[in-house]
Amino acid sequence: MSVHTIVEICILLYNILSAYIECLINIFRNVPKKDIRDHVVVITGAGHGLGAEIAKLFAKLGARLALIDINKTNNERIVEEIKDITGSKHVFGYCCDITNEEAVAQVVQQIQRDLGDVDILINNAGIVQCLPFESLSTKNIKKTFEVNTFAHFYLIGHYLPKMVSRGVGHIVAISSIAGLIGTAHLVDYCASKFAIIGLMEALEMELRQNEINDGIKLTTICPLAMTTGMFKKPRSRFNWIFPVIDAKYVAKETVNAILRNQTLITVPKNALYFYGLGKIVPLKAKLAMQQFFSYGVDAHQ
Ligand SMILES: *[C@@H]1O[C@H](CO)[C@@H](O)[C@H](O)[C@H]1NC(C)=O
Ligand SMILES: *[C@@H]1O[C@H](CO)[C@@H](O)[C@H](O)[C@H]1NC(C)=O
Repeated sequence: MSVHTIVEICILLYNILSAYIECLINIFRNVPKKDIRDHVVVITGAGHGLGAEIAKLFAKLGARLALIDINKTNNERIVEEIKDITGSKHVFGYCCDITNEEAVAQVVQQIQRDLGDVDILINNAGIVQCLPFESLSTKNIKKTFEVNTFAHFYLIGHYLPKMVSRGVGHIVAISSIAGLIGTAHLVDYCASKFAIIGLMEALEMELRQNEINDGIKLTTICPLAMTTGMFKKPRSRFNWIFPVIDAKYVAKETVNAILRNQTLITVPKNALYFYGLGKIVPLKAKLAMQQFFSYGVDAHQ
């Protein structure tokens, strides 16, 4: 081994150590949260559930909002609700099918006209079929990927170049614990949510190759099943370890993670340890644990 390589290894060890020390310091330093007053936040799937809750929290923090949903009635209701709560005039609703590239291009233009440059993009919209593999049609599978995966690409495709040229921005993906852990009756959903983890991690690596992108942050959120009705039959033997969680709580954790520039979180936090454990134990041990905790979803009819 050359002296040069040995020096490089020392530098590597130093960098690893200082990354740990920085993390440790940040835990105790209680870094102030990012101030997002007047920032423009785009949220997909804002008409219902988690998207609506995130929108309300950002509105309270003084952000200006562009709320996108395919369901106009629901979306307008949330827009009005937020206007009532906050008195803000800067809340705009857009009815858009985000699986349609042209519709996305149009809505992006309209948002630019109404609100200007976007600071935070939250790709939240998602669908679930919740069917055993043999009941999934190709059409089902494509739909799942169009909403849960491809739409992220379309929206990031529009917003990232502008963020790069401005040197600031934040892209957020709502994945799922099912984006980290394979789950029965969710084969297509898991695949589409694992894809988001890959998208965000790879994009992070690509952005970090160039220091000018330091102002652009990425955050991925992996919640357990929520009580929003997306999964009709979630089950958990020990609700205190793996709760079926409230969207309001997930929204709070999501906004916190964004304001602290966190890369990836699970909600609740302890789910991340089970994920880590699942990666290192033998398959049979993993199956035994899944059976013991009986956490999962039953197929929809
Ligand atoms: C919008 O959602 C509501 C309530 O979830 C539902 O009753 C209505 O049919 C939906 N509208 C459309 C156009 O999908
Ligand atoms: C988050 O990142 C932005 C952009 O780089 C930076 O201005 C802000 O200080 C960071 N905030 C925290 C809490 O890390």
